[in-house]
Amino acid sequence: GEAGSFIIAIDGPSGTGKSTVARRVAAELNAGYLDTGAMYRMVTLSVLRAGVDPVNDTAVVNVLEGLNFSSPLSPGHQTHLLDGEDVTDEIRGQAVTLAVTPVSANPAVRAWLFDRQQLLAHSGRMVVEGRDIGTVIAPEADLKIYLTADAAERARRRHTQNVGATVGGGLDLAAVAQDLERRDTHDSRRVHAPLQAAPDAVVIDSSQLALPETVAKVLELAAARGIR
Ligand code: DC
Repeated sequence: GEAGSFIIAIDGPSGTGKSTVARRVAAELNAGYLDTGAMYRMVTLSVLRAGVDPVNDTAVVNVLEGLNFSSPLSPGHQTHLLDGEDVTDEIRGQAVTLAVTPVSANPAVRAWLFDRQQLLAHSGRMVVEGRDIGTVIAPEADLKIYLTADAAERARRRHTQNVGATVGGGLDLAAVAQDLERRDTHDSRRVHAPLQAAPDAVVIDSSQLALPETVAKVLELAAARGIR
C-alpha cells in the first residue's frame, strides 16, 4: 500500500479485552481504530428503532436503505452518531446486544458493511477490530492477531466492565457468562463469515496476561513487521 500505511487486524470472541487492546495499540502507533462490532450494533439499533423483527432478514435489509451513521476512527474519542444522535451508550445496552446476533448473521447486512469496512481499513495506518477482519475484510492485513481467553476469565472481565458502566450493570456473573457463551456459539457456527482465526494469525491467549502485557506483545509483533 501507500508509504506508511498498514492494517493490523484484531479478531476474537467477546470479553478478551480486544477493544481496549486495539485502541491502545492504535494510540501507541498514531493510527486509526475501526470498531466493526460497533457498526453491526448501529445497524441493529436502527432495526430496533424501525420496529423491525431482527430475525426477519428481508425486513432488516430494507432498513439498510437510508441508514446514516458515523464511524469514528480516533482511538481516544469514540462517539457513535446515528442520524446525528449520540448513541454510544445505547449500542452497548442489552436490547442491542441480544438483537445483534441475528442481524450480524444476515448475509445482506454483512455484504452492505463489507464495502464500508474495506474502504476504512485501507484508509492509512489502521487497527481494525472484529470477528472476520483477518479472514474476510482484510485478508492482506500486515499483522493478524487472534485474541482469546478462557471463557470464565472473559465472563469475569466483561462482568467487571459492566459493573462500572451505565448499561448492562444489572446482569450477574452467571448471566454474563451465559450471554457470552450464547454469542460465541452463534458467531462461531454461523454460515457467513464465522468467527475463526485466519491461518496466518498470531494467536494470543490473554487469560494470564495483564492488559499492558498484551498490548506490548502486539506492538512487538508489529515492530517485527516493520510497523512502528
Ligand atoms: O465486538 P462486539 O461485541 O461489539 O460485536 C457485536 C456483534 O457483532 C458480535 O456479537 C458479533 C458481530 N460482529 C461480527 O459478526 N463481525 C465483526 N467483524 C464484528 C462483530
